Amino acid sequence: MRLPDAIERVLLDEETIAAQVRQLAAQIDADYGDPDDLVLVGVLKGAFIFLADLARHLTVPHHVDFIALSSYNRGTVSTGSVRLIMDTRVNVTGRQVLVVEDILDTGYTLDYLIRTFRARKPASLHTCVLISKPERRQVEVPVDYLGFEIPDVWVVGYGLDYADRFRTLPYIGVLKREVSVRRVAEEDGTAG
Ligand code: PRP
Repeated sequence: MRLPDAIERVLLDEETIAAQVRQLAAQIDADYGDPDDLVLVGVLKGAFIFLADLARHLTVPHHVDFIALSSYNRGTVSTGSVRLIMDTRVNVTGRQVLVVEDILDTGYTLDYLIRTFRARKPASLHTCVLISKPERRQVEVPVDYLGFEIPDVWVVGYGLDYADRFRTLPYIGVLKREVSVRRVAEEDGTAG
């Protein structure tokens, strides 16, 4: 398989991801039984592919909704400030909410989401994350369903991007270090 120039190697191939997504869906099915009002809330943009695959493997009845956030300072130093760009369409009060994220990095985004949703008094609140980078964590957040733990490398594909590119690669690949280093320098304003 020929990889795009910016990509060093495949970290998680299509089959590995698909098997883990099926496994997560089976766990969610088993845990929720016969839910009244389960809402999957995908966090845009990154979670759109994971959510689509996960939702199609679930047999429990569920609704699908989205929320869009943006974080400031995505470079080496994160301030942890998160901005809400688009809220869910449904009112989650009294519903069973499952937040679906593509990646957990510093934890600031998921922490913000958990605090935001808790304040809205859902019947239950759980989190499902495809990829976690534990080495990068700044704030501890509860993850109920986790796909993979990976080292601190910049990954793209299956929803994950580099400068909004590579989201639709069917696998998760590692970005070449020289590419990600350049990007971080640009974001920090330290690029030469
Ligand atoms: C990514 C990802 C998470 C967040 C995790 O989103 O989808 O929402 O970063 O990082 P954190 O744990 O450090 O908060 P990003 O801001 O890149 O936006 P995108 O999903 O639109 O690509």
